[in-house]
Amino acid sequence: MHDMTAKKSTVAPVGQHPNFQKHHKHFPTSAWLRRRAPHNVPLFAFEYGDTGAGNDIGIAHNWSAFDAIKITPRYGVMPTLPPVDVKLFGRNYSAPIGVAPMGGPSLVWPGADLLMAKAAQRARVPYTLSVAGGATIEQAAEAAPDVFWLQLYRFWHDDHKIGLDLVRRAEAVEAKVLALTLDVPVRTTRSRETYAGLAHEFRPNLRMIREMMVRPRWMLALLRHGYPRFATIADYAPAGAWTNEIIAFARARMGGAFSWEEVKRYRDAWKGPMAVKGVLHPEDAAKAVSLGIEGIWVSNHGGRQIEALMPSIDALPAIVEAVGKKATIVLDSGIRSGQDVMRALALGADAAFAGKSFLWAVAALGDDGPDYLIDLYIDELRASLGQIGARTIAEAREASIRHPGAVEFQDKPRASRAPRKQ
Ligand SMILES: Cc1cc2nc3c(=O)[nH]c(=O)nc-3n(C[C@H](O)[C@H](O)[C@H](O)COP(=O)(O)O)c2cc1C
Repeated sequence: MHDMTAKKSTVAPVGQHPNFQKHHKHFPTSAWLRRRAPHNVPLFAFEYGDTGAGNDIGIAHNWSAFDAIKITPRYGVMPTLPPVDVKLFGRNYSAPIGVAPMGGPSLVWPGADLLMAKAAQRARVPYTLSVAGGATIEQAAEAAPDVFWLQLYRFWHDDHKIGLDLVRRAEAVEAKVLALTLDVPVRTTRSRETYAGLAHEFRPNLRMIREMMVRPRWMLALLRHGYPRFATIADYAPAGAWTNEIIAFARARMGGAFSWEEVKRYRDAWKGPMAVKGVLHPEDAAKAVSLGIEGIWVSNHGGRQIEALMPSIDALPAIVEAVGKKATIVLDSGIRSGQDVMRALALGADAAFAGKSFLWAVAALGDDGPDYLIDLYIDELRASLGQIGARTIAEAREASIRHPGAVEFQDKPRASRAPRKQ
């Protein structure tokens, strides 16, 4: 929904991070951050953050789907770098760009969760903490009080006791949006993560220790921030539980995709705006909206589930058509530039979020990484809009766009499914 209920702007004008120019010389696009990243962090850490499902074909398809979208510029208007501030779920943000939820980013760079949260707060763009992240809900909310969103997986155990307690905690710290992830119905394999020794548990072996020893900046960050933990979940595990024990604890209590009945239950438990993440079909989007969900997060999990999933950008137009007037549409999976953000906005998304590229940024630049990437994407977005002659985001939506991958969804409606047994 492009124009949500008016609320007085609380968004402070932000400027670029003081080190922006310095970093820009070395990292003119996000691809340069990715090139540098494996030289700064142990190989297993890079592989964890960068891998896709199977042989990474899903990631390649996400990227090529964006690359295939072409926009015809119009001229004759006063050239400008347009404003990009935006209202999402009734709140003002400085740009339609956000940090997607990621589990275990502190493995890629110790302390990464809070670095991303603080950068998002400085820039006034949304930051989403994953329930499998390395900071607690309370720490993340303190670091990003104006822009903090929370993502939940399905903690079904004991009649959703942990899941609903997380909702209560999110409410206590005034999280701005709650997102339920639907697109991990089963666990799948990421080959680079598996080969790096991380698929089953986190137990450093000799090879991993060698990889750590030759990455002094990463080791320093480890000393500063401590061993990666699943901090939010740790609060429910037995006191003093070690990382692998927390993983085992969580796996015994969570998993599967939320049923629509469960979505409705969380909807009723949470007072603020709610999104469902991982939607790729317009009928699922419409179903969620019919349950009172205000946000549809179009995503294929960044190609990390299976390679055959539709690129989210190709599913976007049909979802916008189905629910764009009734819901806020967030998109992720494949964003590598402000140009990609413009493509998503031009096709009707209200905001575009990024996952992996924030990990490349923090691995390449440490503390400055997330700040730099947000500024870079905003800069690129404004230049891209200016280049096609759009003076506003709304004008970009009127542009002439060639989108060869756009899906029309002419499949027959599915027979209703049997209710799931718990
Ligand atoms: C290391 C990593 C961990 C992730 N963990 C989660 C998670 O805990 N919850 C979730 O909803 N999505 C998770 N995602 C998916 C992201 O939220 C997002 O959908 C995806 O990264 C976007 O695609 P991109 O990486 O191409 O930008 C994860 C992604 C990465 C890279």
